[in-house]
Amino acid sequence: ILHGIENSVRPISIAAVLSVIGYFVSMRFIPPVMQILFDRNIYGIDINKTTVETRQQFSKARKSGAEFSDTFKKLVVPESLGIVVGGIYLCAVLLALILAGVPLTKANGAVTTIAVMLLLGFVDDVLDVRWRYKLILSVFGAMPLIMGYEGALSVAVPIPLRDYIGSAFLYIGPLYLVYLVAVCVFCTNSINILAGVNGVEVGQSLVIGIASLVYNLVQLRHVDDQTTTEQHRVAIVLLLPFIGVSFALWKFNRYPSRVFVGDSYTYFAGTVLAVAGITAVYSKTLLLLFIPQIINFVISLPQLFHIIECPRHRVPRWIPERNVLTNSRNGTILNALLMVFGDMHERRLTNVVIVFQIVCSVLAFYIRYVLAGLVFER
Ligand code: UD1
Ligand code: MG
Repeated sequence: ILHGIENSVRPISIAAVLSVIGYFVSMRFIPPVMQILFDRNIYGIDINKTTVETRQQFSKARKSGAEFSDTFKKLVVPESLGIVVGGIYLCAVLLALILAGVPLTKANGAVTTIAVMLLLGFVDDVLDVRWRYKLILSVFGAMPLIMGYEGALSVAVPIPLRDYIGSAFLYIGPLYLVYLVAVCVFCTNSINILAGVNGVEVGQSLVIGIASLVYNLVQLRHVDDQTTTEQHRVAIVLLLPFIGVSFALWKFNRYPSRVFVGDSYTYFAGTVLAVAGITAVYSKTLLLLFIPQIINFVISLPQLFHIIECPRHRVPRWIPERNVLTNSRNGTILNALLMVFGDMHERRLTNVVIVFQIVCSVLAFYIRYVLAGLVFER
């Protein structure tokens, strides 16, 4: 039974070392690139620390092209640091795959998809791509991964339905590939819209990343065939450096943010998590790890479909007198949490989201390992 894990000690150790190196290289390069991005006018205003009036004055000053006053200089934060950690990540993963002796053909599609989505995110940060183009382009981004997909094309039928269907597995073929593309697109966009308070994008991604890593390690102990072992190994090699570079980014992005991560990071992070899940064939468990994002997506639907008015930024409202955030009546999980637990400080709100994400991970493991056994045999 330990066969899977024994053969994987070397690749996992190599990926772990590269994860640590990725962390330090990111720590080394984020500060200088922050300055460069700022000089290139790639920055954003920290919304939850400003009033509407300040933001209006700021955008006037920005349009006029005049030098910022010192007050404005304090409010702007370099944006899009995801491109730095994403670049470092790609180098780390390529090195890890080569050194660990994982055949590149097994990971080609995964790496290409991650690279394309990182590029799409960065282009979006710089050029502000419209929603519909982003969706179409992310479908193209998922293609390299899907074309190299080697998992099953069937879904397991729950035990009570087997008599009606007549078998334990139902072959759905190409439809399954469509589902996998949808998982990719969902993961990237759902992280991107659970955003807007300092540290929340990286925080949630780190929790899901670590939970995915644990899941793959647990599974490795159970599998005994070559193909599945290899799939979990690739997923682990993809996840470890992601966790390393994200920790570095977290240090700069947590409250009070010294950098913003940009869509380059949210797209990159969502894609790494989806790619790992699809490569190692655990998309259902992955979706369980995305419960907070699914909730946020569902309560966002009326605004996403413009049934209710959708402002450019759906963030809570800042009350300067008390320095807390309050429900702004936009349909997001952030506002829902403020409604349930009352007004709170920005740092606290991020922590609450992260704790909720951790609780959901535990729940996901419970559903996967205990409840799923009742409807599917393990
Ligand atoms: C998504 C959300 C949007 C949210 C934004 C925040 C939807 C449909 N879109 O848009 O509602 O406002 O993310 O990232 O739900 N910012 C902060 N504090 C932070 C993080 C970001 O003030 O902690 C602001 C900064 O001005 C930053 C900007 O958000 O420049 C980045 O927004 P961007 O990632 O471009 O927004 P979207 O992903 O399009
Ligand atoms: Mg974003």
